Amino acid sequence: MTTTRTPVGIVGAGPAGLLLSHLLHLRGIESVVLEARSRDYVENRIRAGVLEHVVEQMLIETGVGARMQSDGLRHEGVILRFGARDHRIDFRALTGKHVMVYSQHLLVRDLIAARLTAGGTIRFEAECVGLHDVDTAQPCIRYRQGDTEHDLVCDVIAGCDGFHGICRPAIEAHLRVFEREYPFGWLGILADAAPSSAELVYANHDRGFALLSMRSATVSRLYLQCAPDEDLDAWSDDRIWGELQTRFSREGGFTLTEGRITQKGVTPMRSFVSEPMQHGRLFLAGDSAHIVPPTGAKGLNLAAGDVAVLARALEAFYRHGETSLLDGYSATCLDRVWKVQRFSWWMTSMLHRFATHSDFERRVQLAELEYVTSSAAAATSLAENYVGLPLPGRHG
Ligand code: APR
Ligand code: PHB
Repeated sequence: MTTTRTPVGIVGAGPAGLLLSHLLHLRGIESVVLEARSRDYVENRIRAGVLEHVVEQMLIETGVGARMQSDGLRHEGVILRFGARDHRIDFRALTGKHVMVYSQHLLVRDLIAARLTAGGTIRFEAECVGLHDVDTAQPCIRYRQGDTEHDLVCDVIAGCDGFHGICRPAIEAHLRVFEREYPFGWLGILADAAPSSAELVYANHDRGFALLSMRSATVSRLYLQCAPDEDLDAWSDDRIWGELQTRFSREGGFTLTEGRITQKGVTPMRSFVSEPMQHGRLFLAGDSAHIVPPTGAKGLNLAAGDVAVLARALEAFYRHGETSLLDGYSATCLDRVWKVQRFSWWMTSMLHRFATHSDFERRVQLAELEYVTSSAAAATSLAENYVGLPLPGRHG
């Protein structure tokens, strides 16, 4: 057993943990990131791909946005497709902002490279197995690397270990959980196929929801609504493409460009919030504290918002001995978390087919889509939430 020490111990090298470590470094605060998986694994884990305007600006302002600016795709609107017709939500006209389509795994690579270049410490294949003394001024993370156990003694622990990590469970006796499981999931594919639309298409079809997204000019990212426990083996490539072609059908014709499917998977869907997001010297951030259905493209963006708040609070703590921002961390984050939960739930409810819907409820859902795409006020509300609500302490 070895014991080492650092000011901030960070569990998890996903977007939350890595961005927090980077933001702390810029403020002269040391941290150690402990990651259970290998570097290769986390750098190739295919996840989401839309960055809010405020997150894009944060990455640029903090010096880790170069590849995003060169390889990312700037999008100024999205298309809602229902009743076989397209309706564009014009972010630029309604909010003056855009979003950035940029793969999460590329952002993870950029952040790891930045931290290692700056001399940061990221211990890969270091599985955290327990937290101790989180109610004291010297909380400790016990982790295992190979056959050896180690203790990392900290001033503060950041739980950035995702929904299945150990940090939230470590304080679950102090938490209240809010949760909703959806009666569907997404079957997602990556395909070597040029995107068939310049912008994202969210389709509400009688057979179910489908989403057309992309990763580059030659790689499409596509999803279709399925059962939460859908058997992937029942979906041949042909069946996937056939169902996508049907769900994206449009007046005047529309054909998806097909190609080799390089990755496929089924993701169940839930809304989840644990309150508060802190206890003692442990602070939860990102998926460790909350989960949103992916319809609003908010998971990564919420994680970035949490760690921006935490980094500012830790700067006040270390620089001025000020604890009010740390004490208010959870309340500050949760204000924005719940607004984003609402938006993600609303987008999910509006765009997916619910087997339990009566004919009346189906008509109301279609009326909501008609209203959102015909009212400037309603479209502006969707747009300002999609491009991202202001971060606490940042305006506009
Ligand atoms: N010890 C060390 N590392 C751990 C442990 C553990 N016991 N448990 C989990 N981890 C690591 C995981 O291997 C993962 O790399 O914590 C990291 C958590 O990363 P994410 O799950 O990506 O969570 P977060 O950083 O909050 O980012 C949220 O990622 O999952 C997507 O859709 C989600 O886009 C959202 C974003
Ligand atoms: C994606 O590109 O993976 C993506 C885009 C928008 C969403 C969800 C996922 O709402």
